[in-house]
Amino acid sequence: MSDPAVPPRVRQMSDPLAPILAASDDRPFVVAQLGQSLDGRIATVTGESRWINNAEALDHLHRLRAAVDAVVVGVGTVLADDPRLNVRRVALPPGKAQPARVVIDPNGRMPAGLSCLANDGTRRIVVTASAEVVEADDLEVIRLERQDGTFRPGEIVAALFALGLRRILIEGGATTVSSFLDAGVLDRLHLIVGPMIIGSGKLGLQLRPITELDNAIRPQVTVYPLPGGDVIFDCDLRMRKAV
Ligand SMILES: NC(=O)c1ccc[n+]([C@@H]2O[C@H](COP(=O)([O-])OP(=O)(O)OC[C@H]3O[C@@H](n4cnc5c(N)ncnc54)[C@H](OP(=O)(O)O)[C@@H]3O)[C@@H](O)[C@H]2O)c1
Repeated sequence: MSDPAVPPRVRQMSDPLAPILAASDDRPFVVAQLGQSLDGRIATVTGESRWINNAEALDHLHRLRAAVDAVVVGVGTVLADDPRLNVRRVALPPGKAQPARVVIDPNGRMPAGLSCLANDGTRRIVVTASAEVVEADDLEVIRLERQDGTFRPGEIVAALFALGLRRILIEGGATTVSSFLDAGVLDRLHLIVGPMIIGSGKLGLQLRPITELDNAIRPQVTVYPLPGGDVIFDCDLRMRKAV
């Protein structure tokens, strides 16, 4: 039962990009996205993931890319999908460059020749702890120390901000988005839910376990139904942001 004294947490508005475009210039703004089924899966047990979300959801992903300065993925995603990470399905705003492509690859697992490394005039950045870095023309390297086996997401954001990249999209995969959500560095999370129940397979968000619902994340949520049946849940996380 909902408490009538508590304002509604779910509302409908018209443009999920508006908060990103309106973000102030003096600090990083970090938005993550994850496409999933109704039961929170991002792939079947065999890894099949095309297509849980529909064409309008893909358009939304490209609109997100067009709105940011950098698109960040984990090395798992580039090894699985070899994504180009550029804006193709929508027009870039006049004067706006393609977003920098950033791969978190702590162990130097990325092979040469991947699409996201292509030297097409767009900034390409690898975040690593490894002495061995993949060969690619003009690749920028951010070297970080691991703490308890992982990078602190806040340090990745700070390093990108120091390179002039202010609006940052954490595009995937599940491990990467989960680590940024767990660390409390996200301003917003766009969960894009396809009307499909898979019932098994790879889960999307997996965070540190909690025992009490008082410790659950309770964002202010705005919903945006898309024409093809998917729904964007735009989660405003600023109340719990750590940096
Ligand atoms: N549904 C969607 O919206 C969506 C979006 C993108 C991708 N995907 C899918 O997601 C799958 C890949 O996801 P995934 O979870 O396996 O991998 P992932 O998140 O793409 O990459 C995870 C790896 O990146 C590195 N990493 C990420 N965050 C780190 C941090 N804070 N500190 C240190 N290292 C970090 C680690 O590399 P090491 O292992 O080398 O330590 C980690 O194992 C693919 O199947 C892809 O198709 C889905």
